[in-house]
Amino acid sequence: MGEGGTPLVESLRIGPKLSGVRLAFKLELSNPTGSYKDRFIAAELEHLLARGVRLCVATSSGNTGSSLAAYCARHAVACAIVVNADAPAGKLLPMEAHGARLLRVPGFASSAEVTEAVFADLRELAAGGRAALVVSAFRFCPVGMEGVKTIARELQAQAPGVDHVFVPVGGGGLFAAVSAEMRRIRPGTRVHAVQPNGCPTVLNAVRLSKTVESVESATRISGLSVPFDIDASLAVRLLREGGGEAFGVDDGEVFAAQREMLREEGIYCEPAGAAALAGARRAVAQGVVKPGEQCVCLVTGHGSKDTDSIRRHIAAPGAPVEPGGVKRALAEWMS
Ligand SMILES: Cc1ncc(COP(=O)(O)O)c(C=O)c1O
Repeated sequence: MGEGGTPLVESLRIGPKLSGVRLAFKLELSNPTGSYKDRFIAAELEHLLARGVRLCVATSSGNTGSSLAAYCARHAVACAIVVNADAPAGKLLPMEAHGARLLRVPGFASSAEVTEAVFADLRELAAGGRAALVVSAFRFCPVGMEGVKTIARELQAQAPGVDHVFVPVGGGGLFAAVSAEMRRIRPGTRVHAVQPNGCPTVLNAVRLSKTVESVESATRISGLSVPFDIDASLAVRLLREGGGEAFGVDDGEVFAAQREMLREEGIYCEPAGAAALAGARRAVAQGVVKPGEQCVCLVTGHGSKDTDSIRRHIAAPGAPVEPGGVKRALAEWMS
């Protein structure tokens, strides 16, 4: 449906204020269902259809599900999707509209215990052979994740000299795909992981030099709440091998970055799509990024997926104006 081939746009207002850093945004929100997950689903579904699969079960914080539901509708494949009970309406609506069966599970994606139990059930079901399990992670769907690597190849063509790439991290699969492929085609580029401090699977492992452990997630950033090791160990290994760093960001920093992107760049992204910018800011402050270097932030998801988060940035919602009052209202606004 036209997945991939997303634009790389230069930052016009945020970058120039960022210590001489050259900043650009890779707009993954331009994919057909509004997130980079379309790259994953297109590749995974092609693989499943070739194997004759007609039934999928999936887990999702919203974007994988939206994408899966759309592509399944197109190819007449039935799908059922387990989501967290508090997933944003903008992510649930497309799934239901495309005819997917939704299972909203309280504690899924925040409690490690609940999440692991759901995965165990789905794995058992999939092992029975009736349905394919779709999860956007190398651990479960390595063929589909190959599709995500195209981000790195496009970046290499669009910004051949890029010094730093910032990637939001939930389960770690997106980071693993971009980092592994970047290292293969352009080892000089440092690919950094940006994870909410409220769900620090990768952050803890990197900071404390230990293996990945489950956490109870406290982040409110939809899409980045993955409390156990799906691809986090892989992401940690690639970080260590590839010379990238892990940046922890508070939810408040992510929402502030989302606001900046809305107000200063005209980019309508969901919070997870602004997390990379929050990480880039930290990297600049810590001197990891030097003046004159080129940075790319992956803007992974569209604002329509989480309109509640957008509403937080609207100070005074437009009040109705009588037709006769338009001139006066404009005059007040212009003064
Ligand atoms: C918009 C968005 N960005 C980033 C991510 C993180 O990807 P991963 O879980 O592979 O780390 C997700 C995952 O759902 C997402 O929806």
